[in-house]
Amino acid sequence: MEKLNAVITGVGKYLPDYILTNDELSKMVDTSDEWIMTRIGIKERRIMKDPNKSTVFMGTQAVKNLLEKTNTKPEEIDLLILASVTPDYIFPASSNLIAYEAGLVNSFSFDSNAACSGFLFALTTASKYIQTGSVKKAIVVGAEKMSSLVDYTDRSISPIFGDAAAAVLLEPTTENYGVLDSILRNDGYGFKHLHQKAGGSLKPPTHQSIDNKEHFIYQEGQAVFKFAVTRMADISVEIMKKNGMTSKDITWLVPHQANIRIIEATAKRMDIEREKVMINIEKYGNTTAATIPLCLSDYESYLRKGNNLILSAFGAGFSWGSVYVKWAYDGK
Ligand code: UT7
Repeated sequence: MEKLNAVITGVGKYLPDYILTNDELSKMVDTSDEWIMTRIGIKERRIMKDPNKSTVFMGTQAVKNLLEKTNTKPEEIDLLILASVTPDYIFPASSNLIAYEAGLVNSFSFDSNAACSGFLFALTTASKYIQTGSVKKAIVVGAEKMSSLVDYTDRSISPIFGDAAAAVLLEPTTENYGVLDSILRNDGYGFKHLHQKAGGSLKPPTHQSIDNKEHFIYQEGQAVFKFAVTRMADISVEIMKKNGMTSKDITWLVPHQANIRIIEATAKRMDIEREKVMINIEKYGNTTAATIPLCLSDYESYLRKGNNLILSAFGAGFSWGSVYVKWAYDGK
């Protein structure tokens, strides 16, 4: 059998309408537009205000948008992987519900949780299924209702996160395009710096866990920042070198959008100028597993067949990774 690669053949997205600006946030906690823009680089973020709509709803909308844009029938999809830290339920898997809502009647699906690196882990996994020939069409969706985990009385967390969903379609090709390489890493040492304290089997919800605010994101920002800067930069350089490329060969760096300073440090280490870096953190904040497909969607019209993309992320776990993609179509 000829060697198969998994190519991205389309992108789709969903963004909630409500825009939470830095000015509105400044009325909720002791912060300012100036502090948030300087320290993080976020101007506004989208919030899913409707309490009856969450990750499954947003993921479903992104999948429907993708199917429509790529002129694909739902029954053609063989596999759907959802990357998310905010599934609707602990069980069943939210991917299962997204597949149902989107009419993917011939697919199997599962959730994958590698936090902010989740999209890269899921993309790599789906690519392997395509490469074996067992799956012809796969969807990878990153969907997050981060607002469900944010304490909006805490100024150290509330400016950072936003809600969104975005998805890509993967198909096989015998040409040299698509997901050509990936390096993925984990280090459980990082647990202590970034996690949700209660809600799982170790600490099921109790009145006390709610009173103690243990269902919100716990993050030691500076410690995470330090690791994010070095790990994301190192792994991005590693994948570039492993594939015999220099910064001149890279058309786009597609970084996880956690902090503009982390993005800039990664680009600097790779010697990539800012014009070649996809950045939309200002508009959406950190949407965890959705940031990278959301960037691809926002920049789709600039992408050309043959462009070399390095996708890079770092997040809770710790988990981090880099994926080398040779883009397969001209964006409109
Ligand atoms: O995506 C998953 C992985 N996560 C990340 O990559 C996040 C990595 N970390 C970061 O991006 C940054 O550490 C943060 C954005 C979370 C925080 O920025 P920082 O520059 O590390 O600030 P800090 O936590 O060291 O706080 C500096 C000061 C403190 O005041 P004092 O103690 O120096 O008086 C904070 O209380 O800034 C204060 N501060 C704020 N001031 C105004 C913290 N949050 C705010 C705020 N507005 N929103």
